[in-house]
Amino acid sequence: MIKIAVLVSGSGSNLQALIDANLSGQIIGVISNKPGAYALERAKNAGIATAIIEHKQYPNREAFDDVMHQQLLDWDVDLVVLAGFMRILSAKFVKAWEGKMVNIHPSLLPQYKGMHTHQRVLNTGDVIHGCTVHYVTAELDAGQALTQGVMKVRVQDDAISLANRVHVLEHIIYPQAVEWICNGTLQHTSQGQVLYKGQPLVEPIQFCKL
Ligand code: GRF
Repeated sequence: MIKIAVLVSGSGSNLQALIDANLSGQIIGVISNKPGAYALERAKNAGIATAIIEHKQYPNREAFDDVMHQQLLDWDVDLVVLAGFMRILSAKFVKAWEGKMVNIHPSLLPQYKGMHTHQRVLNTGDVIHGCTVHYVTAELDAGQALTQGVMKVRVQDDAISLANRVHVLEHIIYPQAVEWICNGTLQHTSQGQVLYKGQPLVEPIQFCKL
């Protein structure tokens, strides 16, 4: 069974969706860089081990990442799931977990990498928005996309309503992508290729609510 660690910084609604999905893998630990993150409560309520590793306690990014890395090794983790983890990871850490670490981002990547995606979608006047689960690589929000949730932007939408509606999609596409990794439907080969049902994945699997 695949052993999963989830890295969080905030509310953890995606963590909750992963817990509720009864994955065929096991979430064995949750790491937060924020001691007050509500995600830690969710983990405790589900009987999952937690670790608080405060980035502020370490002199630099690498030192912080080394402690996280050691915790993941101690838990003997196979898959790292970033769920609202608000720290940029060092190149060394990303390399160590390449092909074994996924993230969810609130935009239809490759559009709108980085922050404030909902407002940027509104500013541009896009009519379609969504979210993406992708492998994590050294370049921010640029690893191969696995699943996407796609929805329409409504005329009355603001950044908050968009964030709320994108969250609903996140809670569908993240557990699905993680389950596909757990049961081997999605595979990351040693050559760096992503396979879906044994065939190269040429574009993300999309879930549309249009
Ligand atoms: C989500 O919007 C996700 O796309 C982004 O961070 C947010 C986390 O929300 N990476 P939550 O903590 O899972 O509720």
